[in-house]
Amino acid sequence: MTTVIAVANQKGGTGKTTTTVTLGHRLALDKHRVLIIDTDVQGHVAVALGLEKQPGIYQAVQWFQGVGNLLVVSARPGLDILPSDKSTEPGKRILAGMDFRERFLAAVISEIAGKYDAILIDCAPSVDVLHVSALVAAKYLLIPTKLDHLAIDGVAEVVNSLTEIRRKSGIGASLLGIVPTFLDRQTNESIVQLQALVQQFGKLVLPPVPVDVHLRECPAFGKTIWEYAPTSRSIVGVANGNGKTVGGYLQIAKIIEEVLQ
Ligand SMILES: Nc1ncnc2c1ncn2[C@@H]1O[C@H](COP(=O)(O)OP(=O)(O)O)[C@@H](O)[C@H]1O
Ligand SMILES: [Mg+2]
Repeated sequence: MTTVIAVANQKGGTGKTTTTVTLGHRLALDKHRVLIIDTDVQGHVAVALGLEKQPGIYQAVQWFQGVGNLLVVSARPGLDILPSDKSTEPGKRILAGMDFRERFLAAVISEIAGKYDAILIDCAPSVDVLHVSALVAAKYLLIPTKLDHLAIDGVAEVVNSLTEIRRKSGIGASLLGIVPTFLDRQTNESIVQLQALVQQFGKLVLPPVPVDVHLRECPAFGKTIWEYAPTSRSIVGVANGNGKTVGGYLQIAKIIEEVLQ
């Protein structure tokens, strides 16, 4: 069985692409067969993996209309991507005029799902036809959020749009977890907002990802953090003051691996 996980937040710069690529590569390194679908016009999934942006979504829209084939690119052993670029924008316009548009990604996935254990969908920071299609296709939703004073609002918006999609379509993802990103233990705001998130969403709040300069640097080299700086704080976490190390993508990856069937 293939487990489909959408990574979404309508705010930009919350760590969606970083979380998708980092977890996707970890799962592949742990011998799961992984596909990342990039639905953002920026095409940063390919860039982060050292590949060219390509019209993967546009071609998939054409395939949905009965023309041509799906474009899937091998990125690493066990990790493929369905890439995106600026042609995703006209692709979305075509899709918006089609019947069953909210089933677009589910259809793409059912065509190729047999090849993968996990499919991660990196969403754009907007609520558009692809966002709806991703939340309809996915079994689970991950919401990366910054720890600033608008964080809870942003998470609540994503949860509301998910509720609406489930109400209208009768199907849709369930919330797997919220990934607090850019944790800065030096700032009060980070700590206060993390506590507020936990108060509101309880166990759905996953281990936080610390601010990590290596994570910012590695896309420029086309390397994932596992290749560039695998012992850095965003991977292994930071001390929490009680002598315990908490957070980091390694812990989050373990939680994700538990839901893969
Ligand atoms: N934990 C982190 N620490 C430092 N920089 C980060 C961290 N997570 C992401 N970044 C950087 O922040 C920027 C935005 O992250 P990105 O994953 O592209 O967000 P989104 O996809 O939500 O727009 C990128 O330059 C990325 O490299
Ligand atoms: Mg992104």
